[in-house]
Order: sequence, then C-alpha cells, then structure tokens
Amino acid sequence: MRLSYTNVLALVALLTSATALYGQETVKSGFEKLDEWTEQCHTDRPWTLGYPCNQVSSLTDFYKWYTDNEMQNFLVNNAGDPFGNVGALCSGKFEREVIEYFAPKYGFTLDDVWGLVTMSGTDGNNHGIYFGVNYLQNTTGKMPVVYVSDEAHYSNYRLCDLQNLEVRLVKSDDMGCMIPDSLEVALDTTRPCLMIYAMGSTFKGAIDDQAALNAVLARHPEMPVYRHVDAALFGGYLPFTKYRELVDRRVIPYESISISGHKFFGIDSPCGLFITKRNVYENQTSFDIPYLNANMRMINCSRSGIEPLKFWWLIQTVGDAGWSAQATAMLENTEYLKAELTRIGIPCWSNTYSNTVFFKRPADEIVKRFNLANSADEHFGGKLSHVVVMQHVTREAIDIFINALEAEK
Ligand SMILES: Cc1ncc(COP(=O)(O)O)c(C=O)c1O
Repeated sequence: MRLSYTNVLALVALLTSATALYGQETVKSGFEKLDEWTEQCHTDRPWTLGYPCNQVSSLTDFYKWYTDNEMQNFLVNNAGDPFGNVGALCSGKFEREVIEYFAPKYGFTLDDVWGLVTMSGTDGNNHGIYFGVNYLQNTTGKMPVVYVSDEAHYSNYRLCDLQNLEVRLVKSDDMGCMIPDSLEVALDTTRPCLMIYAMGSTFKGAIDDQAALNAVLARHPEMPVYRHVDAALFGGYLPFTKYRELVDRRVIPYESISISGHKFFGIDSPCGLFITKRNVYENQTSFDIPYLNANMRMINCSRSGIEPLKFWWLIQTVGDAGWSAQATAMLENTEYLKAELTRIGIPCWSNTYSNTVFFKRPADEIVKRFNLANSADEHFGGKLSHVVVMQHVTREAIDIFINALEAEK
C-alpha cells in the first residue's frame, strides 16, 4: 500500500510520541496548564535533533538522594573561590574535585590549574574573554584586539560587545574553519592578541585549525597572545575519543577553555566548566572581599552549589567508561545518519571529528517536527538545516527522521 505524505507524517507522529521511544507516562500535578506542558515536554524530548543538548540525563538517583535529604528546602550557594577557603552550605570542595577531574583531560596539571563550574558555555566564554583581557593588560599594559571566526558562536561577539572590546571577525572557509591567511591579514601586531578558537563552530561543527593558526601567531613573536578555546560541545566528547589530542593543551597550547555541562555531559540544567592556568589567575584584577573570606577573581558572586554536585555525581556514576561509550556511539550514529541521507539522495556534509551533519533544508513541517536548526550558505546550494547527533539521537530516531524525509520527497 502506498501511503500519502500526510499519512506518513501521521505515522511518524505516532512513532515519535515520547512513550514510543521512552515508555514514560507523565504524573499529574493537579495544575492543568503545567500538566499539558509536561506532556508536551515528554513528546518533544526525543525530537530536539537540531541543538547540542543531551536529552538522556542519568540523574534519577541524584534527585532521589537530593530529595531524601530535603536539600530542596535550603540554599547551597557557591559564592566564593573553589580553590580558596570554602564556607558553610557551599559545595566548593566538590566543585574543585570536578575541575581537578577534568583538567588533566585538557592537558592542565594539578599543580598549575584554576577553574570553576560555570552557569553555561556562555559564562565560560565570558570568563575566558575577561581573563584574557585582564591577563594581557596586566602583563603588557595594553588593551588587546580580539580575533574570532565569523562562524563562531554568537556568544563570543555578544560578550566582546558587553566588555566593550575591539573585535576583528576573521573569515572562515566553506566548511567553517578560520582561514590562517585571513588571520594574518587581520592582525594588528602592535597590540596584544586575544584569540578565540571555535571548537566547533555552531552550524557546521568546524574546529579551527589551531596548529596552523598558532603558526601564524608565532610569526609575530613581539605580539603577546592569549588563546581561549570555546569548546562548548566538542570539549565534552573529544577527550573520550581517539581525537583527544585536539583538546590537549600539551599538544596544541592554549590558556583557557570553556565547555558546557548540559551538552555532552548530560546535566539537566545549564552549566559548564572554565579551566585555566595559575599564572592567568594570578594576573587578574584582585577583589579581596572580607565578608566572603575570599579573593573573588570570578565574575559572579552567587553561583549554584547544585550543578557542581551533579557534575560530581556523574563523574562517579558515568565516568570515563560511560562517556567513552557515549562518544563512540554518537560518532557512529553520525556516520549512520550521513549514510542514510546519502542513500535517499540528500547531499550532506560534516567536518571531521564532528557530530553535526548539515544538509539541504527540508519542508518547514519537518524542520518544526524534528526541531532542526537552520542556516543558509550559497556554497552549499542555499537553505540548509542541521542535526546534532547527541546521545538521544539513536539509530531508531534517525530511521524515523529518514522515513519522514523520504515521504516528503
Ligand atoms: C560553540 C558554542 N559556544 C558557546 C555556546 C553557548 O553555550 P551555552 O548555551 O552553554 O551558553 C554554544 C551553544 O550552543 C556553542 O555551540
């Protein structure tokens, strides 16, 4: 029997209900509006294909411990420095352990590291840019110029605007990587250079070729340099793959890195990691705050004490073995999606090491149903969409998506 496009979409709707994939029934709150919204969240959950969020967190036991101990009825606030004296009702010692667990994965040594659990990838970039400016100003007496690719995440441009910095957008190649020759042309070698490396770029999942770009910077030894890596998504999974050297600062040097916690790591609310070296920390403007018994070099005063605990919990319960298995599955599923798109005649592209696949934009109905993210690029024929193959984008989900695309064709 041949099914019409409408019938196929109806079938897809049935198959794509949350219960079909996750077998979960929602629990009623007694508030109609809230109950409807909860239902909708469960229906949408498997179909956020276009955004780099892990929709299969493993925090059920964490919340059981949390509520069994009535932690929801009081405040745990990490106002203060996790590497300094931590106060009462603060999870700073766990926050420090989290930073010390991850730091070696990025090539930092435990005797030369400082960091914090941030509120998001953007908050980590804010620290990277702010720390970079302070470091360069305090060590050279001059304001730097910021260089970032035109394919990097918009938070970098927004934050430079917020911090009133001069930014030079450096052109990217068709696949989204900053072009080394364009960096050379953009450089003002009379001023310090604050580089922001995209790892990866938001739409095409490109990783700037840091080795080639560092080689450009090395041609100007008179120009002081600070390099911040925006590794919101890729910084999560790359350390658990054979490509781990791409984020290892002993192999490709950089000064700071920001990674989101709610992307690869599967934390259920926005948070992240900011990690840097001690001499960067020591060259920040000092804010000695007696009432906090702390020297506050970080930007925020109050910070969540719960997100570091979730990170810590996942380190104990998922850890290297779990994250390695997840990273392997994600990259295998990325190849599967590419093969399936190709099989049904849809040209698609992805960068090496990337879990982001972009392709000709399908009908609006499909974009909406599968929450695809859109962009456009004449080099790839105009309107485009992408899928970010996260942990919840399983083969089963990919098959349903491919069936919907085939029906559309
Ligand atoms: C490369 C990159 N940097 C920064 C961000 C912002 O991170 P967050 O949403 O955690 O603030 C994103 C978000 O998608 C991103 O992809």
